[in-house]
Amino acid sequence: MTADLIAKIETLKATRPNNIAVQCFDPVYFGTLSNAHKSRLLKCLNSGIENPDSEMGCYACQPSDYDDFKPFFSKVLARYHKVPEGARHTNDWSLKGVDGLPEDGVLDFARLGLPALSMRVRTGRNLKDFPLPGSMTKDDRIRLEEKMTTAFKTLIAMPDYGGRYYSLTPGHPCFIDDATYQGLVDAHIMFKNMDSDRFLTAAGIAADWPYGRGCYVSADKGFIIWVGEEDHLRIMCMQHGTVLNDVFDRLKSALDVVENIEGLEFAYSADYGVVTSCPTNLGTGMRASVHIALPKLTADGTDTRAKAIAKPLGLSVRGVGGEHTPIGADGTVDISPAARFCITEAEIVTALYKGIALLNAKENQS
Ligand code: ADP
Ligand code: ARG
Repeated sequence: MTADLIAKIETLKATRPNNIAVQCFDPVYFGTLSNAHKSRLLKCLNSGIENPDSEMGCYACQPSDYDDFKPFFSKVLARYHKVPEGARHTNDWSLKGVDGLPEDGVLDFARLGLPALSMRVRTGRNLKDFPLPGSMTKDDRIRLEEKMTTAFKTLIAMPDYGGRYYSLTPGHPCFIDDATYQGLVDAHIMFKNMDSDRFLTAAGIAADWPYGRGCYVSADKGFIIWVGEEDHLRIMCMQHGTVLNDVFDRLKSALDVVENIEGLEFAYSADYGVVTSCPTNLGTGMRASVHIALPKLTADGTDTRAKAIAKPLGLSVRGVGGEHTPIGADGTVDISPAARFCITEAEIVTALYKGIALLNAKENQS
């Protein structure tokens, strides 16, 4: 079994130069591991082995994987995030002194001549006392949701939050029917059925769907916490407007509240910051995005040109339904800075503002 997988990795190494995990797999290092560690590391690579076209090709399955398998993950991180091997991450939400920040510290898209946009900032968090989603049992998923259902009672009781929890777990007191779930997905509040994601399926992250899955939504619908997606929690603020600071600042204060709820302890690595399932998200776990119409750059009905312009600006282009979805009929796309690791939270949100200024200028010149 192990020998078969190693042989597969070696074949992929020769044929898939863009699959980072297989490229960073070192058989000599692998040979030094105990049998238990060997199977743990191979589990991390399973998604990339089953999906040769993967770009990253691996997911951590335990909060300690990044540290336990540092010789592997430090290579993966260096290659994907274009940082030196052994680079250490620092978290910092303070906008003070961030390069490109307007003098008054306000990241207002109206200054760029833009109308109100849908703005969203999310970060991933995982509880340190559970395996990461790729290694969770059905029972783990249900227990984690129970723990969060209790934690959400604190938020629901607070005047600034309120709202309710929606569960997809059959028999859960907050269980919702398919139509309600679909309404939440269409409103960009709830995540899609994970079974349809071949990467998450091969990683074991989509297993036991829909058990242990759900989301908390504040009374004003602007603060949302996903439970049981790619990370235990995806915590986000979302709002229609022009001032990016509104969602960023709200997320920071809401995160502080959540982190202080009794019994919730998140996984952090001393060297790598916020621990996430996917190494693409490690460090900040943060993706800051806007939905913006770029009708000229998408005039051919695809995002090809927008992507070609966005990439050198450090921006990712996604569809209006999120990752792996098509662009909107009016040319609306989801733009976010690609960097998450060895960058601070404050730098990410400023990078979104600066990036949109540049991308919008390209759109207007087209
Ligand atoms: P993630 O951002 O957690 O990596 P996705 O890219 O799959 O995940 O997006 C999840 C959901 O969030 C999708 O419904 C997507 O349309 C929505 N979304 C992302 N950014 C925005 C935004 N700026 N405004 C509204 N919805 C957004
Ligand atoms: N596992 C996929 C790959 O390696 C997706 C990685 C990035 N996306 C994510 N949702 N983590 O290409």
